[in-house]
Amino acid sequence: MAEAKTQYYTATSLDGFIATEDDSLDWLFPLSDLNTSSYPAFIADVGALAMGSTTYEWMLRNAEAVIAETGSPWPYTQPAWIFTSRQLPTIPGADIRFVSGGVPAVHAAMRAAAVDKNIWIVGGGDLAGQFHDAGLLDELIIQVGSVTLGKGRPLFPRRVLNPVLRLASVRQMGTSMVELRYEVEKGR
Ligand SMILES: NC(=O)c1ccc[n+]([C@@H]2O[C@H](COP(=O)([O-])OP(=O)(O)OC[C@H]3O[C@@H](n4cnc5c(N)ncnc54)[C@H](OP(=O)(O)O)[C@@H]3O)[C@@H](O)[C@H]2O)c1
Repeated sequence: MAEAKTQYYTATSLDGFIATEDDSLDWLFPLSDLNTSSYPAFIADVGALAMGSTTYEWMLRNAEAVIAETGSPWPYTQPAWIFTSRQLPTIPGADIRFVSGGVPAVHAAMRAAAVDKNIWIVGGGDLAGQFHDAGLLDELIIQVGSVTLGKGRPLFPRRVLNPVLRLASVRQMGTSMVELRYEVEKGR
């Protein structure tokens, strides 16, 4: 395996939203089939993952749909870090811990757990931005769906101008998705 990375892997609408303003992903599911996407190869190399509380609460609210799709209310075998300032319910059998505050200490713990595998920042966009702010994000892997939402939860609410992201690959997936892989230029 190549050098371990910290990756923000997500799907977005063409106009840069990863969920509607009321946290629906119903627009996304008709666009792609997880099993024929890059996801199986991607997740096989993930050793730890992090998400914000809105994303976690989506999993709690949509447990039945998650079970129907993956066979389990928590589809991840990797240790997971959930960012929140609140007390949230756990999911039986899920390897999760709740954390808050700055991302560097959490990233260090994730790196230790992941060993030589990648770290996945599941979302949302601002949490991925916090890892980027700390210089800890290596790649953005973005599946852009052929839909627009008008408003919603932002993909990556940051200004990245200099150096620009480096476009490493483009992969068309039918007519309703394209996957863009960007590397974050370091050494600023
Ligand atoms: N399209 C996709 O593939 C995709 C992927 C991932 C997520 N999503 C969806 O996109 C939406 C993302 O929601 P979101 O933008 O609100 O982001 P989020 O990162 O899921 O949740 C944000 C919340 O996490 C907590 N948080 C974030 N950073 C923290 C920190 N450093 N310390 C403590 N708490 C912290 C805060 O809430 P509290 O402190 O109040 O808990 C914050 O309001 C969800 O609906 C999710 O289901 C879509």
